[in-house]
Amino acid sequence: MTVHAIIGGTGLTELTGFALRDSRIVETPYGVPSAEILRGDYAGREVLFLARHGHPHRIPPHQVNYRANLWALKEAGAEAILAVNAVGGIHAAMGSGHFCVPHQLIDYSYGRAHTFFEGELEHVTHVDFSYPYDETLRERLIAALAAEGYAFSGHGVYGCTQGPRLETVAEVVRMERDGCDIVGMTGMPEAVLARELELPYACLALVVNPAAGKSSGVITMAEIEAALAEGIGKARRVIARVLAGQAPS
Ligand code: HPA
Repeated sequence: MTVHAIIGGTGLTELTGFALRDSRIVETPYGVPSAEILRGDYAGREVLFLARHGHPHRIPPHQVNYRANLWALKEAGAEAILAVNAVGGIHAAMGSGHFCVPHQLIDYSYGRAHTFFEGELEHVTHVDFSYPYDETLRERLIAALAAEGYAFSGHGVYGCTQGPRLETVAEVVRMERDGCDIVGMTGMPEAVLARELELPYACLALVVNPAAGKSSGVITMAEIEAALAEGIGKARRVIARVLAGQAPS
């Protein structure tokens, strides 16, 4: 059976119903991950869980040690990664509470440690990243969302900004012109680091606010928190269904 790792984003610092077996801080050549890697049983399966922003939530998106996180998960035995990310909605279909399983991404972040392939290398490596998300994992997320009856889009382009500030209206207009449907701050370099480690990776994005300029007002933390409170339980159910439904291998 594949060991899945869940990377919990904003609002998902723990998995309710998770039966903990052990937890440990994994030291990596890249430093320590955001939090302890929890190993336990969820939905009848062995899973690993990592809170991307730490537990309690204290690490902003641009300061997450993505390399340590991915390395530690791989070392702990992860064979596939399901990432949960809170995002802003750009496309009209992406209202608060909507889920999106992106199929593509554009990276607008900068200055983040974004590769394992640096330093004293024997040869230069360029990983293929044409299709950043694993299609099988995506399909399983989509099937789980459909089975739960939640509003979702099975395609979408995730634009990853640097944060921690939210975007200007002009930036969102540009991102929309580029083809972005949702905007978040944590999708990269997480996705490419998973690819470099040959870990299948997919993202379950929960829209928690209309992106800048996509509503009549400004974005408030209160609206984000309300959408998270409403949506995170649903995200947990989707993840549980994906895990429970996996075919034995
Ligand atoms: N922009 C970037 N990241 C986000 C947003 C947003 O509007 N909402 C939640 N994460």
